[in-house]
This record gives sequence, C-alpha cells and structure tokens, in this order.
Amino acid sequence: MSLFITFEGGEGSGKSSVLKLLDERLRQEGYQTVLTREPGGTPIAEQIRNVILDKANTKMDARTEALLYAASRRQHLVEKVWPALKEGKLVLCDRYLDSSLAYQGGARGLGIDNVLNVNMFATEGTFPDLTLLFDIEPEMGLARIAASASREVNRLDLEKLDFHHGVRKTFLSLAKRYPDRFVIIDASQPIEKVLEDAYQTVKKRLEK
Ligand code: TYD
Repeated sequence: MSLFITFEGGEGSGKSSVLKLLDERLRQEGYQTVLTREPGGTPIAEQIRNVILDKANTKMDARTEALLYAASRRQHLVEKVWPALKEGKLVLCDRYLDSSLAYQGGARGLGIDNVLNVNMFATEGTFPDLTLLFDIEPEMGLARIAASASREVNRLDLEKLDFHHGVRKTFLSLAKRYPDRFVIIDASQPIEKVLEDAYQTVKKRLEK
C-alpha cells in the first residue's frame, strides 16, 4: 500500500533521529519504505539545499527562499516521491510543504496562503496522507541543538527566538486547519517515548 507520510517540527525536535529508528522498525516488519528528506533527497534538490542553507547567504530574500524550497520540493517529487508511491512504497519524508507554510508563510511573514499557492504549482496538489508534527518549545529544541555536536547549525537555526516561536505557532495552526492528516506528537518526552508515539500513529494509519 503506497502512503506518503511527512514529519514536521521545529529545530531540535528530534524528528530526524526518531525517523531513522522508525524506518528501521517498519523495514524489520516487512514494509517497503523510502526514507528521504527536504530540502534535498536527489542530487539537483541537494544542490538547491546547499544554496538555501549556506550561512554565507545572508542577503537571501524571503520570496527567493520560498521559491527555492518549492523548486527543491518539485524536483524531489518528480525524481523520488512520485515514482516510489507508484511502486506502492511507504514514503517517509523529513519535512515537506508544511515546513514552507510554517517557516516562510508564518515566521517570515509571507503569508500562509501565498506560500501555499506557490506550492500548489510546485506539487500539483500532492498533499501527504499523514503528517506527524513533533511539537516542542523552541527554547528546549534550540538547547538540544546547542548540546549536540553531530547536528550542524544552518542559516535557519541562526534566526532569533521569536522566529522559532512563529514557526511553532504556525505549525499548530496548520494542525487545526488540516485535522484529517495532522497528528501532534509531544517531542519534549524522552526519545523512546517519542518513537513509540510516532510508531503507534503510523501503524494506526497503515492498518486503516
Ligand atoms: P535541516 O538541517 O534539514 O534541519 P532539520 O534537522 O531541522 O530538519 O534544515 C532544514 C531547514 O530548512 C530547517 O531549518 C527548516 C527549513 N525549511 C524551511 O524553512 N522551509 C521548508 O520548506 C523546508 C523543507 C525546510
């Protein structure tokens, strides 16, 4: 059964680590998964990612940023997500269009509907079947990043605390706007518990 599941959240929510463990668990159970991420996931999309996240690009305009994310997303859909879904795979994607709505639409102030319009063009209306929102207070998430040597700091991490509060607020409003596909996971819990909640949520959807 093909299913498109996305994993969203602010910085330091632990979603990428949980996602790897979740992927392993689902594979062990025999599911054919494709684990991927945005921005990136294919060579062209990774090149776009490098431009977006480069700390030297301090002059990047907000609309340019939104368009680059959308361009990277499109390429990733065409080369990776759509083919995998066609083959009946379970696609697990670290961030997708809701990140653009939260970061560029909400926190950067471009407007959710403006950014949605650009993304409707880019994705031809491909929405996830399920979206797990790893919700955490920005103070706690950023403290986790600061404490972790393995996580490189990128251009978006360097934004002020207000920006990260804006991201969280917008994600939570998106969960209200799309209640059929959003599930909120409390990411302030210990990682084992976050993984268990994520696993149960995905299993429930798979068995639907
Ligand atoms: P990444 O290193 O993948 O961060 P994380 O581990 O937090 O997922 O960097 C992705 C950054 O890009 C992250 O700060 C969120 C941001 N982003 C947007 O602003 N808009 C988007 O559409 C996407 C996909 C990501």
